[in-house]
Amino acid sequence: MDEDAGSMERIFNCGAGAIVTKSIGLEPREGYPNPTVIELEHGILNAMGLPNPGIGEFGDELKKLKKSKIPIIGSIFGANSKEFVELAKKMQSYGADALELNMSCPHAKGYGLEIGSDTELVRKITSKVKEATEIPVFVKISPNLMNIADIAKSAEKGNADGIVAINTVKAMKIDLELKMPVLANKIGGYSGKAIKPIGVRCVYDIYKNVNIPVIGVGGITTGEDALEYIMAGASAIQIGSAIYYRNLDAFKKICDEIEIWMRDHGYKNISELVGVAHT
Ligand SMILES: Cc1cc2nc3c(=O)[nH]c(=O)nc-3n(C[C@H](O)[C@H](O)[C@H](O)COP(=O)(O)O)c2cc1C
Repeated sequence: MDEDAGSMERIFNCGAGAIVTKSIGLEPREGYPNPTVIELEHGILNAMGLPNPGIGEFGDELKKLKKSKIPIIGSIFGANSKEFVELAKKMQSYGADALELNMSCPHAKGYGLEIGSDTELVRKITSKVKEATEIPVFVKISPNLMNIADIAKSAEKGNADGIVAINTVKAMKIDLELKMPVLANKIGGYSGKAIKPIGVRCVYDIYKNVNIPVIGVGGITTGEDALEYIMAGASAIQIGSAIYYRNLDAFKKICDEIEIWMRDHGYKNISELVGVAHT
Protein backbone atom coordinates (compact mmCIF):
# COMPACT_ATOMS: atom_id res chain seq x y z
CA MET A 1 0.00 0.00 0.00
CA ASP A 2 1.33 3.45 -0.83
CA GLU A 3 1.90 5.49 2.25
CA ASP A 4 0.06 8.75 1.81
CA ALA A 5 -2.20 10.60 4.23
CA GLY A 6 -5.27 8.77 2.86
CA SER A 7 -3.89 5.26 3.33
CA MET A 8 -2.60 6.02 6.81
CA GLU A 9 -5.97 7.45 7.81
CA ARG A 10 -7.74 4.31 6.52
CA ILE A 11 -5.54 2.20 8.77
CA PHE A 12 -6.26 4.42 11.75
CA ASN A 13 -9.99 4.16 11.14
CA CYS A 14 -9.64 0.37 11.24
CA GLY A 15 -8.80 0.43 14.96
CA ALA A 16 -5.09 1.21 15.24
CA GLY A 17 -4.24 3.49 18.18
CA ALA A 18 -1.42 5.22 16.33
CA ILE A 19 0.53 4.88 13.11
CA VAL A 20 4.24 4.32 12.60
CA THR A 21 5.33 5.76 9.27
CA LYS A 22 7.57 3.87 6.90
CA SER A 23 11.16 4.87 7.60
CA ILE A 24 12.02 8.21 6.04
CA GLY A 25 15.50 9.43 5.12
CA LEU A 26 16.92 12.77 4.06
CA GLU A 27 16.77 12.21 0.31
CA PRO A 28 14.22 10.39 -1.88
CA ARG A 29 15.14 6.72 -2.40
CA GLU A 30 13.69 4.43 -5.05
CA GLY A 31 14.48 1.26 -3.15
CA TYR A 32 15.52 -2.01 -4.78
CA PRO A 33 14.15 -3.37 -8.07
CA ASN A 34 11.45 -6.07 -7.97
CA PRO A 35 10.89 -8.57 -6.59
CA THR A 36 10.98 -6.82 -3.23
CA VAL A 37 8.25 -8.65 -1.28
CA ILE A 38 7.49 -12.40 -1.39
CA GLU A 39 4.81 -14.15 0.58
CA LEU A 40 6.21 -17.46 1.87
CA GLU A 41 4.44 -20.33 3.60
CA HIS A 42 5.00 -19.04 7.15
CA GLY A 43 5.97 -15.43 6.71
CA ILE A 44 6.86 -12.59 4.42
CA LEU A 45 10.30 -11.91 2.99
CA ASN A 46 11.08 -8.36 1.90
CA ALA A 47 13.99 -6.28 0.73
CA MET A 48 12.38 -3.00 -0.18
CA GLY A 49 15.60 -1.01 0.30
CA LEU A 50 13.92 1.73 2.33
CA PRO A 51 12.05 3.40 -0.55
CA ASN A 52 10.71 6.77 0.57
CA PRO A 53 10.01 10.24 -0.80
CA GLY A 54 12.59 11.95 1.42
CA ILE A 55 11.76 13.99 4.49
CA GLY A 56 10.97 17.18 2.56
CA GLU A 57 8.15 15.73 0.51
CA PHE A 58 6.92 13.46 3.31
CA GLY A 59 6.26 16.56 5.40
CA ASP A 60 3.34 17.50 3.18
CA GLU A 61 1.62 14.15 3.82
CA LEU A 62 2.23 14.34 7.53
CA LYS A 63 0.83 17.85 7.78
CA LYS A 64 -2.38 16.67 6.06
CA LEU A 65 -2.66 13.78 8.49
CA LYS A 66 -2.18 15.98 11.53
CA LYS A 67 -5.43 17.72 10.67
CA SER A 68 -7.25 14.50 11.58
CA LYS A 69 -5.46 14.30 14.96
CA ILE A 70 -4.04 10.83 14.34
CA PRO A 71 -1.11 10.04 16.66
CA ILE A 72 1.90 9.60 14.40
CA ILE A 73 5.19 7.96 15.24
CA GLY A 74 7.66 9.20 12.64
CA SER A 75 10.21 6.53 11.72
CA ILE A 76 13.54 7.83 10.47
CA PHE A 77 16.81 6.32 9.25
CA GLY A 78 20.16 8.01 8.76
CA ALA A 79 23.81 7.16 8.23
CA ASN A 80 25.06 9.05 11.31
CA SER A 81 23.95 11.15 14.26
CA LYS A 82 23.93 14.37 12.19
CA GLU A 83 21.44 12.89 9.71
CA PHE A 84 19.27 11.42 12.48
CA VAL A 85 19.15 14.79 14.25
CA GLU A 86 18.20 16.66 11.07
CA LEU A 87 15.44 14.14 10.29
CA ALA A 88 14.19 14.12 13.87
CA LYS A 89 13.89 17.90 14.00
CA LYS A 90 11.98 17.94 10.70
CA MET A 91 9.63 15.12 11.79
CA GLN A 92 8.94 17.03 15.00
CA SER A 93 8.31 20.27 13.11
CA TYR A 94 5.81 18.48 10.84
CA GLY A 95 3.83 17.44 13.91
CA ALA A 96 4.96 13.86 14.62
CA ASP A 97 3.92 12.84 18.15
CA ALA A 98 6.94 10.60 18.70
CA LEU A 99 10.01 9.39 16.83
CA GLU A 100 11.17 5.88 16.03
CA LEU A 101 14.87 5.60 15.19
CA ASN A 102 15.28 2.74 12.74
CA MET A 103 18.73 1.32 13.43
CA SER A 104 17.82 -2.19 12.45
CA CYS A 105 17.01 -2.55 8.75
CA PRO A 106 18.63 -5.87 7.73
CA HIS A 107 19.04 -5.00 4.05
CA ALA A 108 20.01 -1.32 3.64
CA LYS A 109 23.76 -0.96 3.50
CA GLY A 110 25.10 1.90 5.61
CA TYR A 111 21.84 2.55 7.44
CA GLY A 112 20.79 -0.49 9.40
CA LEU A 113 22.75 -3.00 11.36
CA GLU A 114 26.10 -1.28 10.82
CA ILE A 115 24.71 1.35 13.19
CA GLY A 116 22.33 -0.71 15.27
CA SER A 117 24.92 -3.29 16.34
CA ASP A 118 27.37 -0.71 17.72
CA THR A 119 26.57 0.10 21.35
CA GLU A 120 28.41 3.44 21.36
CA LEU A 121 26.79 4.64 18.12
CA VAL A 122 23.34 3.68 19.37
CA ARG A 123 23.92 5.63 22.61
CA LYS A 124 25.33 8.64 20.78
CA ILE A 125 22.62 8.89 18.12
CA THR A 126 19.85 8.44 20.67
CA SER A 127 21.27 11.05 22.98
CA LYS A 128 21.86 13.61 20.19
CA VAL A 129 18.27 13.15 18.95
CA LYS A 130 16.95 13.48 22.51
CA GLU A 131 18.92 16.71 23.04
CA ALA A 132 17.56 18.17 19.78
CA THR A 133 13.87 17.28 20.21
CA GLU A 134 11.08 17.34 22.78
CA ILE A 135 8.85 14.46 21.67
CA PRO A 136 9.34 10.85 22.90
CA VAL A 137 12.08 8.90 21.13
CA PHE A 138 11.88 5.14 20.63
CA VAL A 139 14.79 3.08 19.31
CA LYS A 140 13.92 0.14 17.07
CA ILE A 141 16.35 -2.71 17.36
CA SER A 142 17.16 -5.84 15.45
CA PRO A 143 16.84 -9.51 16.30
CA ASN A 144 19.95 -10.17 14.18
CA LEU A 145 22.28 -9.42 17.09
CA MET A 146 24.09 -11.42 19.74
CA ASN A 147 24.10 -8.41 22.08
CA ILE A 148 20.47 -7.32 21.91
CA ALA A 149 20.27 -6.54 25.64
CA ASP A 150 23.45 -4.40 25.44
CA ILE A 151 22.04 -2.47 22.48
CA ALA A 152 18.81 -1.84 24.38
CA LYS A 153 20.81 -0.69 27.41
CA SER A 154 22.81 1.70 25.18
CA ALA A 155 19.58 3.24 23.88
CA GLU A 156 18.43 3.64 27.49
CA LYS A 157 21.77 5.29 28.38
CA GLY A 158 21.15 7.71 25.48
CA ASN A 159 17.83 8.59 27.22
CA ALA A 160 15.49 6.75 24.85
CA ASP A 161 11.89 6.79 26.03
CA GLY A 162 11.27 3.24 24.84
CA ILE A 163 12.61 0.31 22.83
CA VAL A 164 10.83 -1.17 19.81
CA ALA A 165 11.64 -4.82 19.11
CA ILE A 166 11.91 -6.43 16.62
CA ASN A 167 12.69 -5.45 13.06
CA THR A 168 12.75 -8.24 10.48
CA VAL A 169 14.99 -11.33 10.67
CA LYS A 170 17.72 -11.60 8.00
CA ALA A 171 16.62 -14.30 5.56
CA MET A 172 16.76 -15.61 1.99
CA LYS A 173 14.73 -17.71 -0.48
CA ILE A 174 16.31 -19.60 -3.39
CA ASP A 175 14.43 -20.37 -6.61
CA LEU A 176 15.25 -24.04 -7.42
CA GLU A 177 14.73 -23.76 -11.17
CA LEU A 178 16.72 -20.54 -11.55
CA LYS A 179 19.21 -21.69 -8.89
CA MET A 180 19.42 -18.17 -7.55
CA PRO A 181 17.97 -16.01 -4.77
CA VAL A 182 14.44 -14.81 -5.48
CA LEU A 183 14.84 -11.30 -4.09
CA ALA A 184 16.59 -8.84 -6.38
CA ASN A 185 18.67 -7.83 -3.33
CA LYS A 186 19.31 -11.56 -2.58
CA ILE A 187 19.01 -11.06 1.20
CA GLY A 188 15.95 -9.66 2.89
CA GLY A 189 14.09 -9.48 6.16
CA TYR A 190 11.59 -12.10 7.30
CA SER A 191 8.40 -11.02 9.07
CA GLY A 192 5.00 -12.43 9.92
CA LYS A 193 3.84 -15.49 11.86
CA ALA A 194 7.17 -17.37 11.74
CA ILE A 195 9.11 -14.71 13.65
CA LYS A 196 6.77 -14.34 16.61
CA PRO A 197 8.74 -16.64 18.95
CA ILE A 198 11.93 -14.74 18.06
CA GLY A 199 10.28 -11.40 18.83
CA VAL A 200 8.79 -12.64 22.09
CA ARG A 201 12.23 -13.87 23.23
CA CYS A 202 13.83 -10.53 22.32
CA VAL A 203 11.19 -8.54 24.20
CA TYR A 204 11.63 -10.86 27.20
CA ASP A 205 15.43 -10.31 27.21
CA ILE A 206 15.12 -6.55 26.75
CA TYR A 207 12.46 -6.15 29.46
CA LYS A 208 14.80 -7.89 31.93
CA ASN A 209 17.60 -5.46 31.14
CA VAL A 210 16.05 -1.99 30.85
CA ASN A 211 13.73 0.20 32.89
CA ILE A 212 12.00 1.92 29.97
CA PRO A 213 8.91 0.63 28.14
CA VAL A 214 9.26 -1.96 25.40
CA ILE A 215 7.03 -1.98 22.32
CA GLY A 216 6.65 -5.47 20.86
CA VAL A 217 6.43 -6.22 17.15
CA GLY A 218 6.92 -9.31 15.03
CA GLY A 219 4.38 -11.82 13.81
CA ILE A 220 1.45 -10.55 15.84
CA THR A 221 -1.65 -11.79 14.03
CA THR A 222 -4.11 -12.54 16.84
CA GLY A 223 -5.01 -11.20 20.27
CA GLU A 224 -3.25 -14.20 21.82
CA ASP A 225 -0.04 -13.29 19.96
CA ALA A 226 -0.27 -9.75 21.33
CA LEU A 227 -0.83 -11.08 24.86
CA GLU A 228 2.32 -13.23 24.60
CA TYR A 229 4.33 -10.10 23.85
CA ILE A 230 2.65 -8.22 26.69
CA MET A 231 3.38 -11.00 29.17
CA ALA A 232 7.00 -11.00 27.93
CA GLY A 233 7.17 -7.31 28.85
CA ALA A 234 5.70 -5.23 26.03
CA SER A 235 3.65 -2.17 27.08
CA ALA A 236 2.34 -1.70 23.54
CA ILE A 237 2.45 -3.61 20.29
CA GLN A 238 2.77 -2.88 16.58
CA ILE A 239 1.14 -4.76 13.73
CA GLY A 240 2.76 -5.12 10.31
CA SER A 241 2.46 -8.30 8.26
CA ALA A 242 -0.89 -9.28 9.79
CA ILE A 243 -2.44 -6.96 7.23
CA TYR A 244 -1.44 -9.58 4.61
CA TYR A 245 -3.25 -12.33 6.55
CA ARG A 246 -6.27 -10.50 7.95
CA ASN A 247 -6.48 -7.32 5.85
CA LEU A 248 -7.12 -4.03 7.55
CA ASP A 249 -9.54 -5.82 9.90
CA ALA A 250 -6.46 -7.07 11.74
CA PHE A 251 -6.32 -4.09 14.12
CA LYS A 252 -9.88 -4.27 15.32
CA LYS A 253 -9.92 -8.08 15.47
CA ILE A 254 -6.72 -8.19 17.54
CA CYS A 255 -8.10 -5.57 19.97
CA ASP A 256 -11.38 -7.49 20.29
CA GLU A 257 -9.53 -10.78 20.89
CA ILE A 258 -7.38 -9.20 23.62
CA GLU A 259 -10.51 -7.87 25.31
CA ILE A 260 -12.29 -11.23 25.16
CA TRP A 261 -9.27 -13.02 26.64
CA MET A 262 -8.99 -10.46 29.43
CA ARG A 263 -12.68 -10.67 30.23
CA ASP A 264 -12.58 -14.48 30.27
CA HIS A 265 -9.57 -14.41 32.60
CA GLY A 266 -10.78 -11.66 34.93
CA TYR A 267 -8.47 -8.82 33.91
CA LYS A 268 -9.66 -5.22 33.64
CA ASN A 269 -6.48 -3.35 32.77
CA ILE A 270 -3.84 -4.49 30.27
CA SER A 271 -1.08 -3.09 32.49
CA GLU A 272 -1.80 -5.91 34.98
CA LEU A 273 -0.37 -8.29 32.37
CA VAL A 274 2.81 -6.47 31.31
CA GLY A 275 5.83 -8.64 32.08
CA VAL A 276 3.93 -11.25 34.11
CA ALA A 277 5.88 -14.05 32.41
CA HIS A 278 8.95 -12.97 34.38
CA THR A 279 9.04 -14.85 37.65
C1 LIG B 1 7.07 -4.77 3.42
C2 LIG B 1 7.68 -4.34 4.73
C3 LIG B 1 8.24 -3.07 4.86
C4 LIG B 1 8.83 -2.67 6.07
N1 LIG B 1 9.36 -1.41 6.18
C5 LIG B 1 9.90 -1.01 7.37
C6 LIG B 1 10.42 0.31 7.52
O1 LIG B 1 10.38 1.15 6.61
N2 LIG B 1 10.97 0.64 8.71
C7 LIG B 1 11.03 -0.22 9.77
O2 LIG B 1 11.53 0.12 10.84
N3 LIG B 1 10.51 -1.48 9.65
C8 LIG B 1 9.96 -1.88 8.49
N4 LIG B 1 9.44 -3.14 8.38
C9 LIG B 1 9.50 -4.03 9.54
C10 LIG B 1 8.21 -3.99 10.35
O3 LIG B 1 7.96 -2.70 10.86
C11 LIG B 1 8.26 -4.99 11.53
O4 LIG B 1 9.31 -4.63 12.41
C12 LIG B 1 8.48 -6.41 11.05
O5 LIG B 1 7.83 -6.64 9.82
C13 LIG B 1 7.98 -7.43 12.05
O6 LIG B 1 6.60 -7.24 12.32
P1 LIG B 1 5.40 -8.03 11.55
O7 LIG B 1 5.74 -9.49 11.63
O8 LIG B 1 4.17 -7.65 12.30
O9 LIG B 1 5.41 -7.53 10.15
C14 LIG B 1 8.85 -3.56 7.19
C15 LIG B 1 8.26 -4.83 7.05
C16 LIG B 1 7.69 -5.23 5.85
C17 LIG B 1 7.08 -6.61 5.74
